[in-house]
Amino acid sequence: MIPAVRGTHDILPGEVERWQRVEAVSRRLFERYGYAEVRTPIIEREELFAKGTGETTDIVQKEMYAFTDKGGERITLRPEATPSLVRAFVEHSLEQAMGVPKIYLFGPMFRYERPQKGRYRQFHQLDVEVFGVADPAVDAEILDLAWSLVVELGIEHVELVINSVGCPACRPAFGEALVTALGQDLGTLCADCQRRAVTNPLRIFDCKVPQDQPVIDRLPHSLDFLCEACRTHFGAVERHLAMYDIPYRVSHRLVRGLDYYTRTTFEILAGNIGAQNAILGGGRYDGLVKQLGGPDRVGIGFAAGIERLVLAMPDAGAGEARTPLFVAAMGEAARESALALLRDLRRGGLEAHMEYEGRSIKSQMKRADRLKAAFALILGDEELSRGEVTVKNMKTGEQAPVPRAGVLDHCRALVAGGRE
Ligand code: HAM
Repeated sequence: MIPAVRGTHDILPGEVERWQRVEAVSRRLFERYGYAEVRTPIIEREELFAKGTGETTDIVQKEMYAFTDKGGERITLRPEATPSLVRAFVEHSLEQAMGVPKIYLFGPMFRYERPQKGRYRQFHQLDVEVFGVADPAVDAEILDLAWSLVVELGIEHVELVINSVGCPACRPAFGEALVTALGQDLGTLCADCQRRAVTNPLRIFDCKVPQDQPVIDRLPHSLDFLCEACRTHFGAVERHLAMYDIPYRVSHRLVRGLDYYTRTTFEILAGNIGAQNAILGGGRYDGLVKQLGGPDRVGIGFAAGIERLVLAMPDAGAGEARTPLFVAAMGEAARESALALLRDLRRGGLEAHMEYEGRSIKSQMKRADRLKAAFALILGDEELSRGEVTVKNMKTGEQAPVPRAGVLDHCRALVAGGRE
């Protein structure tokens, strides 16, 4: 056997229903809030993420699946969707087409990370972005949308954490304050942190090395270094959250592992899924569109990890109610009629199964049980001669003849009754 690549996984029947539920619930929710679906390629030019996600991030430095294609071009499997959606926004002038572009995307992302529960090398995100609105009301809309998603999926024990990382006007002073506060302690931190102190001191907060944490916990807070405009913006976001009645906690350590964020950053953490507990993360990125060659437009959005949503979701209501029917045939003559009945049931919109191997009626009924069929429709020589089908309730064992001509309507009524 050739096993799947490390850090990737198959989504099989039994679990896939939960994925379908996440997709159905989020699609309905996004459309209620006025977001339209966009699908972009999985491969992009490497420079899109180097410039977009940021040269100093772990994603670009360590985790990208990048390669040279046969034409000599540097290509990467997308590690996240935001730069791709910004590219699409610019490349297709979505502003002209949509006014205020509000878009969403579902799809696989790729990061070469160390696999563990809730962390994969190919994982899936649902991603939401809005372009062109600077008002904090849109930060609140995005936060409300993220919160509503978690609530509608029935995920409990969640916590919304927010912060502001400032803007290019106030961030340099904060970076300097971090380096000053580190002082002599910088030498005791890991090699990554020493590098971060030079390239982008904010990234020190991404450090996961346990020994470094006491030093990092003592560092200054970005909120204390915000300029007037960023402080006003953050205050307004907090007031909106109160109006939406969404509980939250402010954490100064939430700088997020991507370089493009300005002002608002946030994550939703789940209490029941282990160490990889961020089910969703996002923030504002007011300089990214321009940086990627577009007009000077602000943006904000979030992405949720679908694997983590599925893990955090309760079992109840994971799948749609089903009422499978099973067609059983006794004898060669009945088999043809049974196939026609199977065809009619399926074309009539009902879920119907049959086994084609021509086994005994006993083994056919066993198959019906395995499929959890609600009703079996039995056809033998006797039924054929009378123009009937025997309909058996698999739960109660009761059975009754039904005229062949009326069997589709009869089954529709049974299925509708079963769903009530
Ligand atoms: P991110 O925090 O890198 O943000 O990823 C968002 C979510 O994707 C995480 O909260 C987590 O649930 C999931 N995720 C990330 N890496 C993995 C992994 N290796 N395995 C499983 N799940 C994972 C972004 O990607 C930004 N593009 C979000 C954004 C959109 N910001 C603004 N707009």
